[in-house]
Amino acid sequence: MASPLPKVVFTAPVSEMPNDLLDGRVWVKVLRHKLPLTEEQLIAKLKNASGALCFLSDPLTGRVLESCPKLKGVALHAVGYNNVDVAAASRLGITVTYTPGVLTEATADLTWALILGACRRVVEGDKMVRAGRFKGWDAGLLLGMDLRDKTLGIVGLGRIGQAVARRAIPFGLRVAYAQRKHADAAVEAALGARYLPLDDLIRESDILSLHCPLTIETDHLLSRERLFAMKPGAVLINASRGPLVDEAALAEALETGHLFAAGLDVFEREPEVHPALRRIPNVVLMPHAGSAGRETRAAMARMAISDLLAVLEGRAPKHPVPRTEG
Ligand code: DGY
Repeated sequence: MASPLPKVVFTAPVSEMPNDLLDGRVWVKVLRHKLPLTEEQLIAKLKNASGALCFLSDPLTGRVLESCPKLKGVALHAVGYNNVDVAAASRLGITVTYTPGVLTEATADLTWALILGACRRVVEGDKMVRAGRFKGWDAGLLLGMDLRDKTLGIVGLGRIGQAVARRAIPFGLRVAYAQRKHADAAVEAALGARYLPLDDLIRESDILSLHCPLTIETDHLLSRERLFAMKPGAVLINASRGPLVDEAALAEALETGHLFAAGLDVFEREPEVHPALRRIPNVVLMPHAGSAGRETRAAMARMAISDLLAVLEGRAPKHPVPRTEG
């Protein structure tokens, strides 16, 4: 017999199932497909659902949303919502929620793992030792970039950008940032952050770290031209969204030695990675794990599920994505 409870589909398992929230309120089906799902697979799985818990790799296009007439709410287990056609969702009366705030510190921590790993060649060193190529101390071995007195350029001084900047203070870095509008004077003062127009920031930064959302305007923000306008010997860090960077041009900038290193948690065509990036030694590669702290992932699931339950029970969710008129 069909359950009288609203049907909710999770497009993949969450790290910890919050059964205390869910029990007796919704009927849950958890998919165990290999992500990413195609549009067709999503439609087939969501077409009879009232609610969906989705992930950043789910293509929630207008076509998918239009093909799921029973859908009232989509809770995205992510802070970035570039994979959702928010305008179509608004038009169709589907509420979309996301998980801002809870993953800020974890993502800033991972960004710093990339900064330190790339600047001090941690992955290269690890590989060298494991391969038995460490033949004794050498004053010239694995020379990297000192951090003190260098400029960390942050593109997008939002929640995560600010958390990354806060961590720069004890390392003795100067912080500069670019974004559409100046940050509040109090934020600038607390972080010692200097505003620069984007192209100046790109030219002046020793380490450039991207923390802006992916939109039509920011797609390939780091174009070939801008990558080659970076300071020679600089380091690029991306823990935001892959398509912000022209990956082929980045590989070229690294291979030609224009850039010293890169640290990447995200890729242009995930889960594919440009083959040259897998070959180049001075790139630290992570499989989109910015928010992968145990407590953080549990908090993301609880936030997303609480908001989805609110939508299905006719209450206002706490974290709706900003509505867009299409
Ligand atoms: C997000 O939530 O947008 C992050 O990329 C997840 O790691």
